[in-house]
Amino acid sequence: MTAASAAAGALALPSTMGAQTRISSTLANDRHRPRVHLLPPSLWLNDPNGPLHFRGRYHLFYQYAPAIDNFATKYWGHAVSTDLVHWKNVGIALAPTAGGPDKNGCWSGSAVVVDGIPTIVYTGATWSAESERAERAKGIIPERQMVAIAADPNDPNLTRWIKIAENPVLAAPPEGIRAVGWRDPAVWKEGDTWYMTIGCGEAGKGGIAPLYSSRDVRRWTYLHPLAVARPDPNQDPNRPGSSMWECPDFFIVDGKPVLLVASGNRYLTGTYIDHRFEQESEGRIDFGSASYAQKTMEDEKGRRIWWGWLREKRSSEAQTAAGWAGVMSLPKLLTLRRDGTLGVEPVPEVRVLRGGQQKTISNRTIEPNGPLLLDGVSTDCAEVDVEIELGSAHQAGLRVRAAADGREQTLIGYDRDTQELFSDTTASSTDAATATGQGLRANRGVEKGKLVLQNGEPLRLRVYVDASVIETFANGRASISDRVYPSSDAALGVGLFVKGGTARVRSMAVWQLTPISNDRLTSGAELFRV
Ligand code: FRU
Repeated sequence: MTAASAAAGALALPSTMGAQTRISSTLANDRHRPRVHLLPPSLWLNDPNGPLHFRGRYHLFYQYAPAIDNFATKYWGHAVSTDLVHWKNVGIALAPTAGGPDKNGCWSGSAVVVDGIPTIVYTGATWSAESERAERAKGIIPERQMVAIAADPNDPNLTRWIKIAENPVLAAPPEGIRAVGWRDPAVWKEGDTWYMTIGCGEAGKGGIAPLYSSRDVRRWTYLHPLAVARPDPNQDPNRPGSSMWECPDFFIVDGKPVLLVASGNRYLTGTYIDHRFEQESEGRIDFGSASYAQKTMEDEKGRRIWWGWLREKRSSEAQTAAGWAGVMSLPKLLTLRRDGTLGVEPVPEVRVLRGGQQKTISNRTIEPNGPLLLDGVSTDCAEVDVEIELGSAHQAGLRVRAAADGREQTLIGYDRDTQELFSDTTASSTDAATATGQGLRANRGVEKGKLVLQNGEPLRLRVYVDASVIETFANGRASISDRVYPSSDAALGVGLFVKGGTARVRSMAVWQLTPISNDRLTSGAELFRV
């Protein structure tokens, strides 16, 4: 056992308050741990779950595990905010019940208010990871659908939840669907009737979103598929996991029906007639592979707000040694644009994070051999806003988390030849732990997605740099999230780059961001002990 993994063992099993305090202070001083993003006090976060705006408070739940492992038993962690920016972790909302239909985990789901009572609908996992694989191979499904209600709707933090006696409210997928998986319920109301879809799919065919209805969110009737994936010739029946839609989410934004599916952070737009969704076109909310398991809510202001799980991009050993893994994205506001695609921007509330302005620039030419970094800017917690006229350049953009000699740097830019927004982390770290990740997938490299700029339209980037998180928004309609772990603690520079010509900065501002807590959200760890 290495010193690092021994420390991680202690992290997973704090035996005394003294140990807990030591762990919290180690994490609070971990320079890779973000300061303005939500994450649990320690250990594991994956999917956003059940976002709910209730009586003026935002409740955001997330998949939490007391181990650095996506196959560990999952709980619902719970955080509360009044402004969508400052979060406080309030503890575990849902824990598996020994011998119950969720004995191996409380998986993803939704929250709605039913007759004044906040109500969670989630998936219970019946089997352990090992038996699950074997049973799935036989066509048996471990998932059950479950309901829990707030114990006291007058508790502003809604800390206690009660599982209802009728659980599981659904015990098997619909007859006739040879499901490879059946999880992550999404619930909405039309008139007096509740509707629900659940992530599902068939081997070799692809995603299915079965539709159910209910009067009380407890007794559900299967209707028919809400939507079925378009045939995909690349579907590999031997990889059943890729044949389902995980984490579907369905809503109407500014009159347009939208279905979200987890893979690729894709959104499908189309028609919704007789409770059947027909896809017309599709796009992606976030181009980054770091982002997964997207989930939205409508808030009390009628806005459609989006979150994603920002996964780690370093080895599991490095994650275990760090004692934490997984971060919630910033909340993104989704709107419908005139061309039928979705607008994607940070919610306006995140502006409260802006502290002092470190730098402003206007009307400056960016030359291929210009300075690597801007003078007087040194930060790993900043918002960088820039408007660039591409001029004769083929590529232009920002350099962040950059060392003075450029040996470590991350490029966020636009390629006008391919019309793509990109995040290039090829050189973001020299640490070998960032080379490859799960399944030997490359952790560093170029990731990108389509962004067509109109004639004369400048590139407008808004980049949130928050330790290992780089979240980028472009021109109000594209976003890409990434994770970086520079080995040098001096990789704090910000610069401009250009390739194949010159470009011009119309305006640029670098804002230092004010942390949302004074301890990188490490407090409240005792509320997460299981
Ligand atoms: C997506 C997912 C969900 C499941 C949850 C379990 O990341 O696999 O489908 O409910 O994670 O944590």
